[in-house]
Amino acid sequence: MEAIVLAAGKGTRMYSELPKVLHPVFGKPVLGYVLESLAGAGIKTPYVVIGYRAEEVRAFLKPWGAVPVLQREQKGTGHAVMMAKTVLAKAQGPVLVWPGDMPLVKPETLEAFCVAHERARAHVSVLSCEREDPFGYGRIVREEGHFTAIREELDATPEERGIREVNTGIYLFDKKVLFDALERIGRDNRKGEYYLTDTVEILRRDGYCVEAFSLASADEGQGINSQKDLATVTQKINEREIAKHQAKGVTFMAPEQTFVAPGVKIGKGTTVYPWSFIMGGVEIGERCEIGPFAKLRHGTVIGDDSVVGSFVEVNRSRFGKKVLAKHLAYLGDALIGDGTNIGAGTVTANFDGKQKHQTTVGKNVKVGSNTVFVAPVRVPDGVKTGAGSVVIPKINIKKGDVVVGVPARPVSKKKKR
Ligand code: UD1
Ligand code: CA
Repeated sequence: MEAIVLAAGKGTRMYSELPKVLHPVFGKPVLGYVLESLAGAGIKTPYVVIGYRAEEVRAFLKPWGAVPVLQREQKGTGHAVMMAKTVLAKAQGPVLVWPGDMPLVKPETLEAFCVAHERARAHVSVLSCEREDPFGYGRIVREEGHFTAIREELDATPEERGIREVNTGIYLFDKKVLFDALERIGRDNRKGEYYLTDTVEILRRDGYCVEAFSLASADEGQGINSQKDLATVTQKINEREIAKHQAKGVTFMAPEQTFVAPGVKIGKGTTVYPWSFIMGGVEIGERCEIGPFAKLRHGTVIGDDSVVGSFVEVNRSRFGKKVLAKHLAYLGDALIGDGTNIGAGTVTANFDGKQKHQTTVGKNVKVGSNTVFVAPVRVPDGVKTGAGSVVIPKINIKKGDVVVGVPARPVSKKKKR
């Protein structure tokens, strides 16, 4: 099976210069979610139709192994699919079409759709869903239960607008009938575009088997046309992720006020308090406390029984076990050993304006309030830093030292002299 992803449009209704499919959801472009779902269903090298700011989209596609196909002018979804005719010249089997702005359809839904399509021996199948509010979507028109056409919002009669079964924009086509039908679609509609959806009516009139399968849930069928839709999709992805963690024993005090990106690991017995933001790739151990108001960024690993408390941001850092950073801290590019306590107001000064540097703090260190670590800096096990100390690289600190001041120097040594 071959797949065509449609991603050439600007996304006019977004009122944004960024191509619609590159708008990030939890740091990952919308198109990435589509490619991931396809990969999940075994489709690793889809053709992606690009056009608006094509170079940026092309650059994004590169590591995915997807094959870009250029649509110079965006004349509609039917025209976009037409662009793939040459690359599909030798292709066998059905052709899947998927809009790049439809990121929530799951691989298993796609698999069920393929099965339904084959069973029905259909020439074209449309994946549909029931929406509470169908506004903006193509409506699935049925006559005596038989699927006959897709009607776009602007072209629909008031009666058709009342239909709640809508087109997700995901189709399976018999290749030959697809391109034959595309040759025959016109642009006599309110948008003046070549609609891919018109192929359904054409094929049906020719006596081909056309089917619509309402397999997707309304949640999955949520596309992105506006900023509001983008927020809805973000919220739905968040709900999905949180539900996955809940099912594995993670407690969220207020899931709707907590943000967890895809690709996060959280151990059981951990509690996440409201307004915490956990980004992709973060790993949190068991029995931890996160938040309220914590931000955990890429590359962060938090060991078991640790606390990342209120107004604490952790970035590209690794905590051992039983590390307590309970309030008001920024820890970036830091390695913190087991049992260390990070006082309120602790900051790693990890950026010198050009480069990021590492802070390494040993085990069972007591970091006093308002300590600044001017990285690169290394603090051995058992050290205590006084409130307000500024720890700099040049001064040698030994295991168990108590350091104070600006810059921080060992107290014990001073006394000996
Ligand atoms: C389309 C469907 C509608 C369906 C909805 C659901 C048509 C005519 N309508 O409407 O029935 O309910 O999707 O997702 O197909 N694109 C191109 N080139 C173009 C035009 C669009 O690549 O010339 C791409 C866009 O970048 C987008 C996708 O195709 O990713 C869909 O286009 P969009 O304008 O969002 O279509 P809808 O109005 O949502
Ligand atoms: Ca759309």
